[in-house]
Amino acid sequence: MDSLKKYLKANKKRQLDELMELLKIPSVSADPKYKKDVAKAAKSIAKHLKDAGADMVAVCETKGHPIVYGEKIIDPKLPTVLVYGHYDVQPADPVELWTSPPFKPVIKKTKIHPQGAIYARGACDDKGQAFMHIKAFEAMNKNNALPCNVKFMIEGEEEVGSVNLGEFCKKNKKKLANDVILISDTSIISNKQPSITVGLRGLSYVEVEVTGPNKDLHSGVYGGAVANPINILTKMIASLHDKKNKINIPGFYKDVATVSKKDRAEMNKAPFSINNYKKALDVKDVYGETGYTTLERASIRPTLDVNGIWGGYIGEGAKTVLPGKAYAKISMRLVPNQDPDKITKLFQKHFESLAPKSVKVKVTPHHGGEPAVTPTNTIEYKAAHRAMKKTFGKNPIPVRGGGSIPIVSMFEKILGVKSVLMGFGLDSDDIHSPDEHYGLFNYYRGIETIPYFFQFYMEEHKKSKK
Ligand code: BES
Ligand code: MN
Ligand code: MN
Repeated sequence: MDSLKKYLKANKKRQLDELMELLKIPSVSADPKYKKDVAKAAKSIAKHLKDAGADMVAVCETKGHPIVYGEKIIDPKLPTVLVYGHYDVQPADPVELWTSPPFKPVIKKTKIHPQGAIYARGACDDKGQAFMHIKAFEAMNKNNALPCNVKFMIEGEEEVGSVNLGEFCKKNKKKLANDVILISDTSIISNKQPSITVGLRGLSYVEVEVTGPNKDLHSGVYGGAVANPINILTKMIASLHDKKNKINIPGFYKDVATVSKKDRAEMNKAPFSINNYKKALDVKDVYGETGYTTLERASIRPTLDVNGIWGGYIGEGAKTVLPGKAYAKISMRLVPNQDPDKITKLFQKHFESLAPKSVKVKVTPHHGGEPAVTPTNTIEYKAAHRAMKKTFGKNPIPVRGGGSIPIVSMFEKILGVKSVLMGFGLDSDDIHSPDEHYGLFNYYRGIETIPYFFQFYMEEHKKSKK
């Protein structure tokens, strides 16, 4: 490990420069305008894997954006770690709210990141975190410190629901065969308190369209006599939560697994300051389901949120119009054992039933994803725990995350393998928001921790064989 440490130290600047270059590519998977840039980012990832020492590297085309695959098999008899990550990023909009351009990475110092943080779309989610694995792999390789086989699968469609990845896994089951999946695409509690994510929420995402009259009308001539689809839509949406902020869709909670009192008490022991939370968001109070703490509301409870709503006139000044249509995008975060397809159907049926005869309603499902829980009694969890303890000097705490990574449950179903979610971001890193950033501390700490994961995984593996 000594030569590896020296190597990492000597190559710090280059490892950062390379990430900065990658962050210049606007690989926005949601917007077809960036298709070429997504392809360019895939190529760049492939080149980095090759340069880092992967024997076999391929950019695999899909119906959507390509998947980058790479591997280094040192001995087929040894275990194999599959590293998953994504090189695609969320749209940067609203660009005017960024303090520096989203695809011109710069380093800025902040209170939370006194050593500096890279500001760019994808810095944390997930180019920065995926790149740590390539750099750690490079360091292990160059120093003869890779203790087992490694495969990489870095995809370009995570932010649009990993729609083609399931099929890719099914088709390439043999090629992808592995013993453990390692993912850095989540966060830690703070730079002083590491944590390992042991659960993710699922997702059901729908778009709704409410149609009133067959065209926009004069709101004086027709107003009051014809249904206004925006008025109706907002009423329908408002009825989706009750007074206790529970979701008002029949059957919605039916499959929700109850978390025991003991487990809830354990979860709420994680360091968390409600005051800092409110301060960081500039809100006087939090808001959510009665009977649950903020930590619980954002992890073990399902949600329903309007992500966008539009219709009618939104230009300068006042135009008196009774719009013909209204739209909204609605997401539901799901917890074990809710099934996204089932929930989407329940939503659709209920939402259609809410509409008065005076309007038509169309519900269009988008991508979804299943919730996941990852066990803590495995050798890979132990390895991640030991690795973080080694570099942070503190025991990591298991926490359930609120976000979604649809592939985690697909991996389990298709490849039969559980994942370890050893992420290094912070919840305050503004992923998906303007001014996304990733701490240099976090980037380097990740690169330093990953080789320990490999080392400890092999140690635990040997122990378990005895
Ligand atoms: N890396 C995130 C998920 C995440 C972030 C999990 C922080 C835990 C903590 C991932 O890239 C993401 O944004 N996923 C999407 C889901 C997808 C189907 C669009 C999400 O959670 O909105
Ligand atoms: Mn991500
Ligand atoms: Mn994301």
